[in-house]
Amino acid sequence: MTQTAGAKIIDGRHHARQLREALRIKAAGLLAKFGAPPKLTVILVGDDAPSRLYVSNKSKACRDVGIASVVIELPASTGLEALLAVIEEQNRDPSVHGILVQLPLPAHLPVHAVLERISVEKDVDGFHLYNVGSLALGTAVFPPCTPYGVQKLLEAEGIPIAGQNVVVVGASNIVGKPTAMMLMQKDATVCICHAKTRDLAQFTILADILVVAAGKPNLIVPQMVKTGAVVIDVGINRLPNGKVVGDVDFEGVRQKASYITPVPGGVGPMTVTMLLANTITAAQRMWGISETSTGT
Ligand code: GUN
Repeated sequence: MTQTAGAKIIDGRHHARQLREALRIKAAGLLAKFGAPPKLTVILVGDDAPSRLYVSNKSKACRDVGIASVVIELPASTGLEALLAVIEEQNRDPSVHGILVQLPLPAHLPVHAVLERISVEKDVDGFHLYNVGSLALGTAVFPPCTPYGVQKLLEAEGIPIAGQNVVVVGASNIVGKPTAMMLMQKDATVCICHAKTRDLAQFTILADILVVAAGKPNLIVPQMVKTGAVVIDVGINRLPNGKVVGDVDFEGVRQKASYITPVPGGVGPMTVTMLLANTITAAQRMWGISETSTGT
């Protein structure tokens, strides 16, 4: 990629608005045809403040495009059996197309046992073992929302993926690993770095596309970035002064990159939008319509 005087800032809010416009039309079409809207159930256990905010944002986004949403709030003391019973009830309810259990769960609840109880056909987060496996095989049932949003941002900006060196910083199950899988599936050469990687910069400097999801403010500084690289910042960190920042030194790195996502306003709005897309896809499948909700 070419040298630039300053990166183009990728406006995630703009791309999310455009995608939501198309989703709104699809949701309205489903309502007209089947007499009911696509419906998402969100299960929130405990009172983690950021989770509460994320769940409220998801509900608002659903309303915005005409998806019905229900939030089931359970106390932090909820036991595994009680939580599984709630999930089973949602699995059986034919009016519910998507089910999401907000993470993190209270420490006493085994995350995988919970996620694996969600019906594969309603697992719009894409976190069920089956869906993780389908992603690894390149036939994702529901692509996980944040990696899906990253891919859509790259596509919307016309940034090529095939043959590019992609370095993903962060190996989480929610972001790092599935992002690596999805971009490898698009024929990128992918490297995953993580907390134990020695000399992170020797890897990041090779990236044509650098995706950072480590949860550490200012982890990526200009000397770690190749001139002309595309920098996608998935980090969301609240500083002691209340400011929300990503993992990348935005002001420094934007001088060197060709494209960069801001925080907030970059990947975040896309994550929620892809959840809406997956919920509409789930409804379409349940109603026997085979097209996908985002045209891919
Ligand atoms: N917590 C942080 N990100 C996510 C997400 O994408 N899905 C769920 N269910 N929980 C989260």
